[in-house]
Amino acid sequence: MTDFAQFYRRSIDQRDAFWAEQAELIDWHERPRQICDYSHPPFARWFAGGTTNLCHNAVDRHLATRPDQNALIFVSTEVNEERVYSFRELHAEVQRMAATLKSLGVGKGDRVLVYMPMIPEAAFAMLACTRIGALHSVVFGGFASVSLASRIDDAEPVVIVSADAGSRGGKVVAYKPLLDEAIKLAQCKPAKVLMVDRGLVAFSRVAGRDEDYAAWRETHASTPVPCEWVDAEHPSYTLYTSGTTGRPKGVQRDTGGYAVALAASMKLIFLGNPGETYFSTSDIGWVVGHSYIIYGPLINGMATIMYEGLPIRPDAAIWWSLVEKYKVTSMFSAPTAIRVLKKQDPAALKKHDLSSLRALFLAGEPLDEPTARWIADALGRPIIDNYWQTETGWPILGICNGVEKAPSKFGSPGKAVYGYDVKLLDEHTGEELTGHHQKGVVAIEGPLPPGCMQTVWRDDERFVKTYWKTVPGRTIYNTFDWGIRDEDGYYFILGRTDDVINVAGHRLGTREIEESISSHPGVAEVAVVGVADALKGQVAMAFAVLKDPSRAATAQGARGLEGEIMKIVDEQLGALARPSRVRFVSALPKTRSGKMLRRAIQAVCEQRDPGDLTTIEDPTALQQIRDLVAPG
Ligand code: PRX
Repeated sequence: MTDFAQFYRRSIDQRDAFWAEQAELIDWHERPRQICDYSHPPFARWFAGGTTNLCHNAVDRHLATRPDQNALIFVSTEVNEERVYSFRELHAEVQRMAATLKSLGVGKGDRVLVYMPMIPEAAFAMLACTRIGALHSVVFGGFASVSLASRIDDAEPVVIVSADAGSRGGKVVAYKPLLDEAIKLAQCKPAKVLMVDRGLVAFSRVAGRDEDYAAWRETHASTPVPCEWVDAEHPSYTLYTSGTTGRPKGVQRDTGGYAVALAASMKLIFLGNPGETYFSTSDIGWVVGHSYIIYGPLINGMATIMYEGLPIRPDAAIWWSLVEKYKVTSMFSAPTAIRVLKKQDPAALKKHDLSSLRALFLAGEPLDEPTARWIADALGRPIIDNYWQTETGWPILGICNGVEKAPSKFGSPGKAVYGYDVKLLDEHTGEELTGHHQKGVVAIEGPLPPGCMQTVWRDDERFVKTYWKTVPGRTIYNTFDWGIRDEDGYYFILGRTDDVINVAGHRLGTREIEESISSHPGVAEVAVVGVADALKGQVAMAFAVLKDPSRAATAQGARGLEGEIMKIVDEQLGALARPSRVRFVSALPKTRSGKMLRRAIQAVCEQRDPGDLTTIEDPTALQQIRDLVAPG
């Protein structure tokens, strides 16, 4: 055990020596010649000259030491199924999938889009891609056809891997019709669609395009597919995330840096040891699923639980029964899930032996103090918050108990994690704020450490323009989050500075929702803002101006229109993006130069002071919103 302050300083001041040591945690085919090449900021090239493979590190290298230990534990309370794969079995399944993808024409550098529920085949597909040097692009199963189509067009996949259906709360959710619709909408048509048939729902097949995985799996029952050694900088995947502009960004991740960063984080932050079991309740469609359901635990030689279902079905004890059954040592979830559990009988948490659990890690959205206290008391285990983003792939702020044991503070995700030179900047001047308890924009001095995004897929310029600010001799990454830092170096995150909202831990762009609502023929203009919500953290709230205001003149008319608009959002983006309410107004509050005053709308919805309104064009527009949302 070393002193964290020293460990941290070394990661910044002796960056290359620090990361050269961490690089020993993974297998290399050829060792890197250089640790960090930052000669073209903000582009950081990690471990140049090295060759490796993510799938080798996650699967093959464990065959020598732990072939029969659990690797992937699939539990579905939706279809009542439990399947456990050892590393040997996982290796066999990944090879079958890899051989199939190759047969369907996938080669190194090609993209494969994965649109799947939480089933083992989704994990096989991801690992099969990285095995052969193809890039996976997983799209969350909750996204609907328009969201999916825009991702298909950006990724231009050769093959899409999908399934007949998922299931949520016991209700079958068909995937194939949404996928067919998305392919129809997309400009780019995949050559092949590989279907995993779970037998949940009948689906139609497009001749010549749609392939049945069960048949291919038979064909390739024992076809060996060696790992393709790729450069450390070879992209392993793209994952789409929302930002200020409507178009989602493809976050591109490398191979070597990602493997090293995850391996180090498993030890230093998530307290995992080879041979133990890790349980992350996220979904593979999100970054937590990529880093801490699939790659992190497996690279670390741990078994990982993949759970399809709700936290409260069949009852609120389900997760804790899995902790007991599989002797889970580290668990990872989101505050929203805990708030859902909080509404259930607390006795459910006491029914099971949780003594194996070292800690419950929570991330993805602010962890409010009452929720943190409740779960800490209920579990009797440490609760550890951590803060990061799709862009970074692993924690920026956290408590590195694997380096030195440190206390958590309620409401804070912790201190800057090793490798991240975190700063707070003044919103207006961009100057660094060095004092305590000053509110600023959370920023990271470049280079970003290994494992963070390399660029925006096929759009270096957008990467530079969106995230980076250059001051002479320095490049600084913007997280788009507000934060403060206390006298002990603990940060507190105060929400986004941009138009991104966080609904139940799901990151959504309000502009995407606005675009979707605007496609309703009756809507002239719309503003969507995120409003604080006791359960989901935030919900989306929409205010629309109608082309023909008389349509919403009666309560019944307004309700009907609201329903139509919600249906459009459901169909285009998915139910997760559906606003909690759509309200109708005659004008939206804007500045005299025509900029929408979203922050003022949000403040009014949250019954807060909207601040300086001297530039507002028409104050009655904000008043209308105030009247609509007034309590009672
Ligand atoms: O606003 C921050 C919030 O979630 C955003 C990133 O979301 P996503 O890209 O989906 O990545 C989630 C990875 C865990 C951040 O910009 N956020 C994330 N973690 C926290 C948080 N806000 C407060 N506290 C956290 N621990």
